[in-house]
Amino acid sequence: MNPFELKPKPLEEIIMNWKQLSPKPYDKHDVDPYTRCRVILMNGTEFEAVWYGHQFSRHTGDNELRRQVALLRRLEQQQQKLIGALKPADETILEHTIGYEQLAVDLTAGLAQREDNPYVKQALDFALLEDFDHLYRYADLMEFDDGQHAEELVGRYTEIMPGRPTIAHHRHPFDSVKFHIQNRTASPMTRLCTGIITAAEQQTMNYYMNVAAFYPTAWGQKLYREIGMVEEQHVTQYGSLMDTEQTWLEGCLNHQYTECYLYWSAMETETDPRIKNVWLMLFEQEVSHLHAAANLLETYEGREAAQVIPDGTFPDPLLLTGNIDYVRGVLGGTVCNTALREDWTNVNDLARGADFFTYQGIVNGDVRDVESHAIIERVIGRDGEDYRFEVAPNPVSALRDRKRDDTSLGRVQGTPC
Ligand SMILES: [Fe+2]
Ligand SMILES: [Fe+2]
Ligand SMILES: [Fe+2]
Repeated sequence: MNPFELKPKPLEEIIMNWKQLSPKPYDKHDVDPYTRCRVILMNGTEFEAVWYGHQFSRHTGDNELRRQVALLRRLEQQQQKLIGALKPADETILEHTIGYEQLAVDLTAGLAQREDNPYVKQALDFALLEDFDHLYRYADLMEFDDGQHAEELVGRYTEIMPGRPTIAHHRHPFDSVKFHIQNRTASPMTRLCTGIITAAEQQTMNYYMNVAAFYPTAWGQKLYREIGMVEEQHVTQYGSLMDTEQTWLEGCLNHQYTECYLYWSAMETETDPRIKNVWLMLFEQEVSHLHAAANLLETYEGREAAQVIPDGTFPDPLLLTGNIDYVRGVLGGTVCNTALREDWTNVNDLARGADFFTYQGIVNGDVRDVESHAIIERVIGRDGEDYRFEVAPNPVSALRDRKRDDTSLGRVQGTPC
């Protein structure tokens, strides 16, 4: 499939009416977990498209170009509204959160296994273990506050157990900035991957920024605040991987191409026939956006789309699915890793005065105040053990104890890994 070879509809013909923007939501009781994940992913992708469009407009003085960008952005907003309406009103903040973290785990693991750039793969594997741990902490919040088992929501495709403990995720901002790729030399999948994962993590960050204050319990709000700060680190890491040398119009073309690829992937892999039709319609709209972006590039920069995207043929579709064995392998091998400037290293190999320890000392203070730890202690205190869903013992022996939450691993030097 090459979207540059399809015939696009004119942009004015794809403006939707209010009725089209109000589809029936999915049923939270029988939705496939990965349909929920696709809705979250595409919502985040549209959010990125809208915000990229606003930033573009604020960095351009040509009002004719800004009108064209406003038209494209209006269409992206409509798509976001339509996708946002697929989430049912009776799905709670926390249920939806479990979907966010399942997406973060299985999208990241899926991309990592396809990634041919070892540096980008390392970035994915690194943050993978953190979102995996977030899933466990939120699942325990759900057990504590609602007595609900998150394994039902994730359909048992994704394990729910400790990863790299969240208390160890809090690093100095200097350690999240990585080397950027160059689109000219990167493979098509690497280019797509950096854009996709940045938008997805950014959506998680934004979601937690907005919902933390709406969560009903004080300890739950604290957990959202803490994990929200880790998502800021993830967005910094992934965003820093993206090519920094694109013009705004090149970036626009790459965004549209990525959207085309994601809707096409969603359409190819969707199991709910009604939602599959939604993806098909939005894919066709994106083809129009893509051709419009290519025209703008030609008009304003005198360049062909093929100079930015030499071969528009899509790689295989992105499939969201379980990755239990893969996650276990990464967890067993790299649980004690932390970030060090552009690299990653075992925390036991850091210099004593490393920024990591300074930052940890400031933000964590007393570990009992760290909610990602405290919530597990609350569940243990009430139920005698934590809540988890695992198909075999945790690959890291220090994380097997269900009656004690480990706060040293990957954080306190000298702790065996
Ligand atoms: Fe879009
Ligand atoms: Fe994340
Ligand atoms: Fe678009």
